[in-house]
Amino acid sequence: MPGSEPDPQRMEAVVALCKRRGFIFPSAEIYGGFRSTYDYGPLGVQMLRNVKEAWWRSMVQLRDDIVGLDAAILGPPDIWQASGHLATFTDPLVDCRSCKQRWRADHLEPSEDGTVRCPSCASTDLTEPRDFNLMFKTHTGPVADEGSVAYLRPETAQGMFVNFKNVLQTTRKKPPFGIAQVGKSFRNEITPGNYVFRTREFEQMELEFFVPPAHAPKWFDHWVEERFRWYVELGIPEDQLRIRPHDPDELSHYSVATSDVEFLFPFGWGELEGVANRTDFDLKAHAEASGESLDYFDQAANERYVPHVIEPAAGATRSMMAFLVAAYDQDEVGGEVRTVLRLHPRLAPYKVAVLPLSKKDTLTPLAREVLGLVQRRYICDYDDTQSIGKRYRRQDEVGTPFCVTVDFDSLDDGQVTVRERDSAQQVRLPIKDLIDHLAARLDL
Ligand code: GAP
Repeated sequence: MPGSEPDPQRMEAVVALCKRRGFIFPSAEIYGGFRSTYDYGPLGVQMLRNVKEAWWRSMVQLRDDIVGLDAAILGPPDIWQASGHLATFTDPLVDCRSCKQRWRADHLEPSEDGTVRCPSCASTDLTEPRDFNLMFKTHTGPVADEGSVAYLRPETAQGMFVNFKNVLQTTRKKPPFGIAQVGKSFRNEITPGNYVFRTREFEQMELEFFVPPAHAPKWFDHWVEERFRWYVELGIPEDQLRIRPHDPDELSHYSVATSDVEFLFPFGWGELEGVANRTDFDLKAHAEASGESLDYFDQAANERYVPHVIEPAAGATRSMMAFLVAAYDQDEVGGEVRTVLRLHPRLAPYKVAVLPLSKKDTLTPLAREVLGLVQRRYICDYDDTQSIGKRYRRQDEVGTPFCVTVDFDSLDDGQVTVRERDSAQQVRLPIKDLIDHLAARLDL
């Protein structure tokens, strides 16, 4: 289990497993990779979907005060002008004059005597910091001029603000209520790194929760607690998580209070999610810029107001990395060391693996029948190659909670063996009871 010290070996082991087993590949690898972008392989895409689905379930499905949205990724400059991103969504950039590398000034640690050195070549010949805007700029249509400028969104949040009126009118929700969105965001990070922790293309899971202004502090506390609990419920040990309130000089241009949920990554504490009190900053800014009123009339109180917004903003790709790191373990089963991903069943890429004991034709029809039965309900793997021990290890390594083995006795007694990942315990049960057995353990 991870301690509080940086643990590069653990990180290397997780990265190697992700590559070896098809979770995450460096993007454009056959061309030498592409600037810290990553592709999610057959198991990674499944797990990432599960992370996003777990978020959607807790935010939208299990609540009646939050609705969903899927807004465009491309947007006109007007949105980003009003939101303040064109002016202030910047990081301080410094160049090393010796080796020409570029760094984020706020990530450079001065030495004890106050000298700041280039982390690559140790030169002190660095430029003064200058603001670098993180948004990706592009053009829509065939003519690339000022009139066709568009931006890839650097956060999903603005989609919720510019659709506030649409959602209010079409759903008849009233504050307190929220709009949730999951999707890609893009930032031209100066120093991407730490695997998928900081990339230029990533996925976010964001909620904008609109509340009467006086209730904002109460809802802020509510969401900090709720979001911390979400990570714990999905298997991250509490002692590897912490809540860190921002210092006033760290706050984003729109926030009066932010608390991060942080995880103890192998390289140290890192943000998983920020919960911010964005006040009425965004709705007011868009109302002023667009000329549309973005307020709410409370008929009961006969009062018109611009709601304040509490925003829990999480990274889907970054959370997936945290879930993988927290789940990675090695133990001994039957005198052999095994690698096991102790993923919460909700997050595991495969829920069940169906394993015929042998490849013989006599077993295949029943094994395929069992697969058909389970597959309707759970995403499954089917594996009939190599020894059963090796196949168990392969499933342990990718976090499959249950293996169902069909053997020659199954043909006579209609029973299968179900093996549980963490304990490696096996039970034999009738095929007719299989779905109930799995459901009791997987449908948490
Ligand atoms: N709407 C507010 C907002 O975007 P943020 O703290 O900049 O706030 C929210 O981003 C979350 O998105 C972060 O906590 C992190 O999990 C994820 N995130 C941000 N930048 C990222 C990047 N470059 N790579 C991966 N994930 C990132």
